[in-house]
Amino acid sequence: MLMSRILFGDNLPLLAALPTGSVNLIYIDPPFNTGGEQRRTRIKVVPDADGDRTGFQGRRYRTIKLPSSSYMDSYEDYLGFLKPRLEQAYRLLADDGSFFLHIDYREAHYCKVLLDEIFGRASFINEIIWAYDYGARSKKRWPAKHDTIFWYAKDPQHYTFNYSEMDRIPYMAPGLVGAQKAARGKTPTDVWWHTIVSPNGREKTGYPTQKPLGVLERIVKVHSRPGDHLLDFFAGSGSFGEAAANHNRDFQLIDNNLDAFRVMLERFNPYRIAIEVDGLSAVQNRHLNQLFENHIDNLDEFFDTDDFNVAMAQGRQHMALQLSLPKRPEQIQLFA
Ligand SMILES: C[S@@+](CC[C@H](N)C(=O)[O-])C[C@H]1O[C@@H](n2cnc3c(N)ncnc32)[C@H](O)[C@@H]1O
Repeated sequence: MLMSRILFGDNLPLLAALPTGSVNLIYIDPPFNTGGEQRRTRIKVVPDADGDRTGFQGRRYRTIKLPSSSYMDSYEDYLGFLKPRLEQAYRLLADDGSFFLHIDYREAHYCKVLLDEIFGRASFINEIIWAYDYGARSKKRWPAKHDTIFWYAKDPQHYTFNYSEMDRIPYMAPGLVGAQKAARGKTPTDVWWHTIVSPNGREKTGYPTQKPLGVLERIVKVHSRPGDHLLDFFAGSGSFGEAAANHNRDFQLIDNNLDAFRVMLERFNPYRIAIEVDGLSAVQNRHLNQLFENHIDNLDEFFDTDDFNVAMAQGRQHMALQLSLPKRPEQIQLFA
């Protein structure tokens, strides 16, 4: 049975409370320190004969603007912020566990030096380049269209690497390798070509900087086993959790942004969810759970409750959501 959790709050004290050596695989995608705010406007389209959009077979749709999602992405001392969190990641990893840091070209080299310090240089296994090709192209320099993903193993002699679980990719020149090999495809290298989350695709949650499941599922399948415990403590929209759930791994997700929490609640709606807000009495927590159960389709009401807002106003910024089996048996396959 899947027993996964979403924790709301600053990740540092929450990480400090987790048991040493309890996690098999950690992936994090922290803010990249771009120096601004990351924001996405979210929209929903509904069928409407007088709507402003035309879709498949000429059907008309109306656009509804949803609240936008955002988080701050500017740090005076970025490495000072990351260091204690990376030290916690090292402590939390099981002896054969692996750690993945997703970052962009602005901070990648500083982070590599910091990780070498914490894990030891020998524990560095790969620098994966995720290459995409989307958006505006600079005419003044080579357009930056990649992110870096560093892989460190806690023990470089002993880690999970399920070679046979790799997805296969097409050969660039299939005519040179014969029909059988061409049909099977080849294994990827450390350069991963993958599109970003499509702005109108099914995967899109509307959360800024959401990462694609294709990239994360490759990490989950190759670097962990079914039943393993996975952790993402800069979870955003919860993509790593969905990748873990799709392959029967447990997961813990942490984020300190209410927008992210809201998006994750929507995303994991098929689960049976129990909520516990730190600082509230058992009665208040029961009240919230009842509301939650009744209003899962109307999250605004849930976030508007007095109990919830009192807890937030008191600075009780810790909440835990326990996720267990999907609500309905037919939804065992999440998001199918
Ligand atoms: C780049 S986004 C993660 C996007 C995510 N990988 C996805 O696919 O949706 C970084 C996230 O880190 C969160 N964050 C920043 N500082 C944090 C902190 N101290 N504790 C917990 N989460 C934090 C932000 O709220 C933001 O959602």
